[in-house]
Amino acid sequence: SEEHGFSKGLAGVVADATSVSQVQGEVGRLIYRGISIEELAEKSTYEECAFFSLYGKMPNQNELNKFTTEMKASRVLPKAVEAVISAAPRSAHPMAILQAAISAIGFEEHPVNLKNEEMNIHSATKIISQLATAVARISRERRGLEPVAPNTDLSHAENFLYMLNGEIPNKDEARMFDVALILHLDHDFNASTFAARVVASTEAKLSLSISAAIGALSGPLHGGANEKVLEMADSIGAPQNAKAWVANALATKAKVMGFGHRVYRTMDPRAKVLRGMLEKLVATKKEKDTYETLRIVHDTMIEELSKTSKDYIWPNVDFWSGALYRLMGIESIDFTPIFAVSRVAGWSSHIIEMWRDNRIYRPAAKYIGPADEKYVDIKNRK
Ligand code: CMC
Repeated sequence: SEEHGFSKGLAGVVADATSVSQVQGEVGRLIYRGISIEELAEKSTYEECAFFSLYGKMPNQNELNKFTTEMKASRVLPKAVEAVISAAPRSAHPMAILQAAISAIGFEEHPVNLKNEEMNIHSATKIISQLATAVARISRERRGLEPVAPNTDLSHAENFLYMLNGEIPNKDEARMFDVALILHLDHDFNASTFAARVVASTEAKLSLSISAAIGALSGPLHGGANEKVLEMADSIGAPQNAKAWVANALATKAKVMGFGHRVYRTMDPRAKVLRGMLEKLVATKKEKDTYETLRIVHDTMIEELSKTSKDYIWPNVDFWSGALYRLMGIESIDFTPIFAVSRVAGWSSHIIEMWRDNRIYRPAAKYIGPADEKYVDIKNRK
């Protein structure tokens, strides 16, 4: 691509300005509007971070109460969205169902008015709230279980786990899940956020821009990697196989899921926080094999890569998140939808920010095809 004068995959291309978040790839730091994710993980909640991300300021107590009440009041899905979810076959991947479900929110969403930011933030708040309900419902229908109605006594994280599992989660696990949601909330111009921005730049409805982002997130190179990491752990089978498995993966140049990043050149800071929580949770559980297998893959990869020119490949956010969710009783097929439960606040914040000063995304292409071909009639073609 360099000889043609463009950057494949837009690597290093600055596409717009943002103050929602910044990935500092060289030092392995991530900030949301200036505050490090480590500090937010320790002190904040998903609701507070979602407000912070959407409105660009930390809420005071009164604002947070209002926002939380609005989120709770929006949890019930429109009937058409429930119908779309029920129409999907049980074998469908939940990301495909989720994309359809969120598109269905667009059936009744009012047209976009870029000037009415307050209204757009309310629409976004509703989608953030409803996306969690949709993910829980999709999972329960797949498992042949009755959907669980939302419970307004519970926080966003607690209520999601409640709707998913049908029981009120214990406080420690709910807090870990809340922190996982904080960690996934935003990540500057990642592929799904960029997809959301491209669609929203045409002044399309919020729900339709978010549904484009869900499509982008579903791929294994992006959010789909968390599900693939657990498939990898399962196919390795047992911790004692892990070292040999990594040696083979490196020798055959296979991609190891949950490793590598376009921007980070060191450990992804989200992976560190997730690992810390996972270690605490594993200590309270009998099942330790998935964690042990991943730990050996992790350590062996870092050790082996450090001896090569690929020493810039490190674990990313998707490496540990699935193992944490599995210990909470969540099936791996639901991991990527859970990524969306969090990232929807980031997608929305980017759109709201971009609409203040919108210009349609329309890049240029380097044409490398023939310049002057003639049409050949079909009967004269080989
Ligand atoms: N395992 C082994 N080798 C790797 C890996 C990996 N996970 N990732 C990159 N490489 C190698 C790659 O083969 C290439 O080698 P070569 O130069 O010999 O062809 C080199 O490193 C550069 O990789 P790249 O594919 O050009 O990098 P990229 O910036 O285009 O892609 C990535 C980044 C994240 C898509 C890629 O690292 C990858 O596919 N990782 C596995 C999937 C994954 O974990 N994705 C989650 C990303 S982070 C959070 C999220 O978005 O969900």
